[in-house]
Amino acid sequence: AATGDLAGRHVVVSAGGTREPLDPVRYLGNRSSGKQGYALARTAVARGARVTLIEANTGMPDPAGADVVHVGTAVQLREAVLKAAAEADAVVMAAAVADFRPAAYATGKIKKKEGQEPEPIALVRNPDILAEISAERARPDQVIVGFAAETDDVLANGRDKLRRKGCDLLVVNEVGERKTFGAEENEAVVLAADGGETPVPYGPKEALADTVWDLVAPRLG
Ligand code: C5P
Repeated sequence: AATGDLAGRHVVVSAGGTREPLDPVRYLGNRSSGKQGYALARTAVARGARVTLIEANTGMPDPAGADVVHVGTAVQLREAVLKAAAEADAVVMAAAVADFRPAAYATGKIKKKEGQEPEPIALVRNPDILAEISAERARPDQVIVGFAAETDDVLANGRDKLRRKGCDLLVVNEVGERKTFGAEENEAVVLAADGGETPVPYGPKEALADTVWDLVAPRLG
């Protein structure tokens, strides 16, 4: 049997960024690399957990020892997260989920028309998966973690977001040149719904991942 402080636990991690198709060749996407989510999956495996990794568009090979579900869009990610979260001890939403998707999908490639201005792209709201699983709570003792990338008023915005989303922990990182997107390193503050605040100095995404599990483990039922 697995050893480690997460042995016997089932954790769900989402990683990457959703792509919202406009037509068969184009999509609205974001710059999430998936590296932080993969680091969370690898460290959880190392600490003995059964890990379900829900992967969106990272292009990275499946991490050893995790069950991996591949998705593309926010709607698909929601389905996969709800299914896996139904019997999970913890859910970490590290994926960058598109807030909006194109209102319509063109089954044929959208063409530019000679001498005509482009059509505006109408968008509709995507479901907020983190808010939904936090409100519904598949299990009352489940620990739910969100991520938030902010560019300014990082802590104040983070506290606000933690409250709005209703999760237990929120990893807040400042979006910058050397950190967060595509980088191997990250720097963050982990805010807890019970008031705790854990700064994580600039370092490998693995170190931040371990800090997240350090904070999740004692909160598990
Ligand atoms: O609101 P914002 O996108 O900043 O929130 C980020 C957090 O919420 C991340 O944990 C992300 O995975 C999650 N999220 C979500 N569904 C959305 C948007 C964000 O689960 N539609």
